[in-house]
Amino acid sequence: MRFENKICLVTGGGSGIGRATCIRFASEGGTVIVVDINEQHGNETVSLIQQHKGNALFIKTDIGNADEVKSCVKTVTDKYQRIDVLVNNAAFMTFTKIVDLAESDWDKVQNINLKSVFLFCKYAIPFMKNGAVVNTSSVHAHETTANVLPYAASKGGMEAFTRGLSLEYQPNQARFNCVAPGSVDTPMLWSNPDIKDGVEKMQGAIGKPEELAAAICFMASDEASFVNGTTLVVDGGRLDIL
Ligand SMILES: NC(=O)c1ccc[n+]([C@@H]2O[C@H](COP(=O)([O-])OP(=O)(O)OC[C@H]3O[C@@H](n4cnc5c(N)ncnc54)[C@H](O)[C@@H]3O)[C@@H](O)[C@H]2O)c1
Repeated sequence: MRFENKICLVTGGGSGIGRATCIRFASEGGTVIVVDINEQHGNETVSLIQQHKGNALFIKTDIGNADEVKSCVKTVTDKYQRIDVLVNNAAFMTFTKIVDLAESDWDKVQNINLKSVFLFCKYAIPFMKNGAVVNTSSVHAHETTANVLPYAASKGGMEAFTRGLSLEYQPNQARFNCVAPGSVDTPMLWSNPDIKDGVEKMQGAIGKPEELAAAICFMASDEASFVNGTTLVVDGGRLDIL
């Protein structure tokens, strides 16, 4: 199994793509650290994994809070002395035009979606050897719509940050990549008012969380050993600009 004896940390593991990714890692032998702000949902993911005799641990963390991110990584490295796979996946969106957007909302989006990626990498990379970081971006990094610009900017920043990190470390320490989903059937998709109102068109099929989990797990696996510093778009053909 591809993740046997590997410590795999996934943020946003309580729902959607993050939960499917946790379940996939566990089904391939990984020990999964489920990180989420939602205690009930995080524990549910752990139960689902344990029901299938997998290994998982929940650590409640608000990834928008720097002290909590630091403490989360410390809990994992104190227990296991290493992190093999880091999936920065949790995210937050606003649906407001820029002139009406509160500064605090801009900061909240950047803290959760982008600063947390910096912080998890900062604290986890020293504990990685032949590791892999996979960051969940979005098609919005490439082709966005009105009213979600803080989110789009955070994902664009995430992709640039990821490319840059692949230059700072040798692959025998860690590889760094993004997976950019199109529309995926999760609570985040259906709570998006632009999707409900049809402002954001969903061309092509709507993906399943498991289809994204498969891509994330490939990027995190040794099978992707020559894939570094790039973004895999997994969108059922929605983008036509790449
Ligand atoms: N669903 C889509 O259509 C879609 C499309 C493109 C990109 N994405 C990206 O995929 C990733 C996962 O999204 P999803 O659709 O599975 O969403 P989701 O809403 O199903 O799950 C997100 C999880 O993140 C957790 N979370 C939110 N804020 C947090 C915080 N501050 N600290 C810790 N956990 C927090 C939530 O509790 C939730 O469990 C996100 O990065 C999102 O931007 C999703």
